[in-house]
Amino acid sequence: MAVKALRRTWARAVDGRDARALLHLHRELWIDHDGRGGMPASMEDEVWVAYGLMLERQLAHRDGRRVPRGVFEGKLGHVVAELDGRVVGQVEVYLDRFGYQPRTPSVAELRSLIVTEAARGHGVGALLVREVAEASSQRAGDNALVIAEVLARNEALSFYARLGFRTLERLTAITTARPYEGRFSSAPARVEDAMELSILDHQARQRRTAWGDPRFDPPSPAIGGDLVRLIADGIALDDAQRGTEPGRIRDELIVRDRRGRARAAIYLVSAVLGPPFAPVVRAEVARIAADTEDPEAVAAAMAGLSDALERARAVGATQLLVRSAYVDPIGARVAEGEGARAFSWILAAPASTVLRRTAKP
Ligand SMILES: CC(C)(COP(=O)(O)OP(=O)(O)OC[C@H]1O[C@@H](n2cnc3c(N)ncnc32)[C@H](O)[C@@H]1OP(=O)(O)O)[C@@H](O)C(=O)NCCC(=O)NCCS
Repeated sequence: MAVKALRRTWARAVDGRDARALLHLHRELWIDHDGRGGMPASMEDEVWVAYGLMLERQLAHRDGRRVPRGVFEGKLGHVVAELDGRVVGQVEVYLDRFGYQPRTPSVAELRSLIVTEAARGHGVGALLVREVAEASSQRAGDNALVIAEVLARNEALSFYARLGFRTLERLTAITTARPYEGRFSSAPARVEDAMELSILDHQARQRRTAWGDPRFDPPSPAIGGDLVRLIADGIALDDAQRGTEPGRIRDELIVRDRRGRARAAIYLVSAVLGPPFAPVVRAEVARIAADTEDPEAVAAAMAGLSDALERARAVGATQLLVRSAYVDPIGARVAEGEGARAFSWILAAPASTVLRRTAKP
């Protein structure tokens, strides 16, 4: 990778000798995020020592080597920035693709972006994002899309807005939900539910496309046998893995009305966080599939969330994060509910926009 200068700042691929600096940066980041309502960072010194050793092991093979185009190893990229010869910032990126059609972009997900407090305001953050945008488009094409999750209580939102990012999704944290009122019943999907689930899923994909999420292929015009099989396989896999790890849930909850019709589906995932976080359970509704135009389906989705929250609590979660498209009216309703708080935003910008916005004068 070419080394770049911007004032006294430099960005380059990570090296084995950066492990100690990275440990300090990670610790600063996760303690900062904990203070802003993010997931709780570990306060145990031993956990951080172990985390530092893990970073050393991960980077050892890069020690002193100059890897051409070295930002990426497989799907994972890692860039550091120096200010006057000292490592003051870092970002990781995970490059993936969720579609097959040529127009569907690769997605470069930024992770753990941090510039140490004393070095902020010198353009280092922008340089790091630029470097990742450049490396991602070199690898995955000009239409690569850069994504970042930003806590709702973080001024970094203005930083991303400045670089051309727009909000795609919201995550709302809920701790209470209205009880069922007996109108609906909700249970983990069984393989026999695959056809009904395919219909809900297909409609959810259509809505997502209509709402302008560029990350996925538009759905095919009709529901094919392939989709039904894919969904049945997913249910069978979730079934096979149920109860294998404490705190772990992967459940597609189907919400039925009194007549037994499937009106909504809620995908619930949870896991115990590993270092450097405190060992808490993070529970998330990763997708809600329900007809937003139909009040009965919306009520079913809310009933499903109530069930999801109970299930999350049963494995030790204290809150449930609910992910939805920014313009999804169900997501907006969840965000306005009693006791709900904005947790984070998922932002996106085409790599080409980031490169334009960070172009040197
Ligand atoms: C967000 C962060 C990486 C920005 O790094 P930085 O090196 O200070 O940012 P830059 O100097 O490159 O700023 C680039 C632009 O964003 C603006 N900006 C940066 N931080 C800002 C803030 N907190 N509020 C408003 N605007 C901000 C700058 O003014 C600059 O605009 P300009 O080009 O018009 O001058 C840094 O503040 C940080 O590490 N924060 C704590 C960790 C964190 O929140 N990371 C993000 C995780 S999603």
